[in-house]
Amino acid sequence: MIQKINVGLIGLGRIGKVHAQNLTREFPDVLLKAIAEIKIDETIKEFIGTLGMVRQDLTQDPQEIFDDPKINAVIITSSTDTHSRFIQEAVKNNKHVFCEKPLDVDIPRIVDTLKVVKQSGMKLMIGFNRRFDPNFRKLHELVGKGQIGTPHLIKITSRDPTPPPIEYIKVSGGLFMDMTIHDWDMARFQANSEIEEVYAKGGVLIDPEIGKAGDIDTAVAVLKFVNGAMGIIDNSRQAIYGYDQRLEVFGSNGCLMAENEANTTLRTFTKEGIRSDAIPYFFLERYTRSYVNELRYFFNCIKKNEDPKPNGMDGLVAILIARAAQRSYEENRPVKISEIASEYYIDNFSNFS
Ligand SMILES: NC(=O)c1ccc[n+]([C@@H]2O[C@H](COP(=O)([O-])OP(=O)(O)OC[C@H]3O[C@@H](n4cnc5c(N)ncnc54)[C@H](O)[C@@H]3O)[C@@H](O)[C@H]2O)c1
Repeated sequence: MIQKINVGLIGLGRIGKVHAQNLTREFPDVLLKAIAEIKIDETIKEFIGTLGMVRQDLTQDPQEIFDDPKINAVIITSSTDTHSRFIQEAVKNNKHVFCEKPLDVDIPRIVDTLKVVKQSGMKLMIGFNRRFDPNFRKLHELVGKGQIGTPHLIKITSRDPTPPPIEYIKVSGGLFMDMTIHDWDMARFQANSEIEEVYAKGGVLIDPEIGKAGDIDTAVAVLKFVNGAMGIIDNSRQAIYGYDQRLEVFGSNGCLMAENEANTTLRTFTKEGIRSDAIPYFFLERYTRSYVNELRYFFNCIKKNEDPKPNGMDGLVAILIARAAQRSYEENRPVKISEIASEYYIDNFSNFS
């Protein structure tokens, strides 16, 4: 059994900084040994100082992490186009991998990568952090215990507070790939079933520039699951009241709902009515606990030699669903996930577990 886990982290951007801080604050038995970041400037040097790390712990070359025999786990938080390459390098060098979502946006490359992971025998976990949000996880557990009987309907509301810059939109892979990716995974997780078919509608209701960049900013997807349940996901790039993240599972014996939590429990009573505090602004504030919980789970899987979930297969399936949704929107028809999968000769998801 591994006693001490030495970690190398690649990519010190928005989410990399969150994981780096959590690694140094929350896990006494884990050492963040090295960080690779191509763009090293004064703010990055200052940041690693706040982690208690020194300049020698920072490199521009991820290969140094792969070559370090003392490092047994790699956290990949660099941009999506680097994920497959870094996963492959890491597992070939006997390192377990936690990789941010999405695994990749290119299906053949994902398939190749998952083959390499399987051959290596190393563990791969994908950062679908929302599964580790305490409210959503508890809901999942209660559904699993049969508290609401057989699930019939799954409703997910997932709305960002503000659209990302147009430059980001242009390379994001589109709303279904970039934003709904978390919701495809959440829907599968809560239904405990694969999605069989998706029917997606989308529109540009917030910013015409998003349309000019070839994307949509508002969408609805209707889902049919293999187990017969149905689902609905609604997305917006702009909810003026904050990051709106709600979930409902309705079943034969009742209903479970996870609502937005306000920033404080404060309520203001006036003659106009009763007002609660605002909800968290965006994902970094809303999902704080999930980022710690997912890493704790990953390290426990390494220590206990268990296979983590969500794994590479979950990363692949989310991408297949995103592709099906995009085609559904473009061709104005329901699309089965098997239609996309068969184009890549994927007939059994369990081959990728
Ligand atoms: N789970 C979540 O909630 C969540 C939230 C945000 C982003 N993400 C995902 O995390 C990844 C990073 O997103 P971000 O928002 O932090 O992006 P970012 O652009 O802020 O950070 C990416 C960092 O990786 C670095 N980088 C790129 N190529 C590199 C290389 N070859 N070697 C070393 N460093 C390299 C960049 O310089 C940058 O600092 C994306 O895949 C994104 O989808 C997940």
